[in-house]
Amino acid sequence: MSFTVAIDGPAAAGKGTISRAVAAHFGFAHLDTGLLYRAVGARVLAGEAPLEAAHALVAEDLDADGLRTPEVAQAASRVAALPDVRSALVDFQRAFAARAGGAVLDGRDIGTVICPDAPAKLFVTASAECRATRRYDELRGNGHDVTRDEVLADVIARDKRDSERATAPLIAAEDAVTIDTSDMSIEEAVAAAVAAILSKDGRPEN
Ligand code: CDP
Ligand code: CDP
Repeated sequence: MSFTVAIDGPAAAGKGTISRAVAAHFGFAHLDTGLLYRAVGARVLAGEAPLEAAHALVAEDLDADGLRTPEVAQAASRVAALPDVRSALVDFQRAFAARAGGAVLDGRDIGTVICPDAPAKLFVTASAECRATRRYDELRGNGHDVTRDEVLADVIARDKRDSERATAPLIAAEDAVTIDTSDMSIEEAVAAAVAAILSKDGRPEN
């Protein structure tokens, strides 16, 4: 049987960190749907047309370290506003969500558009300042030459574009549990997420 955990929220809120930990805890598979849009954005930066890029995605596109740059993030956020691009990526995400044994998907529209019937939905957020500092530390730690101001500007610009677009905007689903991680350690955030999921019925036994 399937069981889908939908995790949405703004840039660098801790969605991926929580998703990986939740997936490990319950033995579920995990899909970072941001990587789909980042991979399309990277292909567009390389000269492809957005829709062709979305149709041409292959598995190897999704784990390239080069996708974690602010430049690719901005390109991702721009292609993500295109309805055709979003439509092209729906079936893959829904098939992943329906896999036997359980799945965690994180992104912007998982609980609202991709899996509106998901039994467990989390909206993971934190202040923009806090998210920028975390992403800055992460990028610097991975050797990227960025300033904190650039990272804050990227986070704010993407949040604005992602929230204001007409198609699948970033918004908490009505039935989502919101977790504000601003003043939480990773361990506390993961514990809050696990507790929220445990409160839902229908999980596969592991
Ligand atoms: O997936 P998303 O962009 O929402 O965020 P992430 O990549 O999981 O987290 C961004 C950074 O914040 C990572 O370096 C995490 O280790 C860090 N983080 C944190 O310091 N405290 C948390 N409660 C969650 C994440
Ligand atoms: O890790 P971070 O939160 O910074 O970004 P991401 O999750 O990798 O997403 C990159 C961009 O892809 C976002 O700014 C969104 O524009 C787009 N995205 C989306 O529109 N819908 C999703 N389900 C996931 C990402």
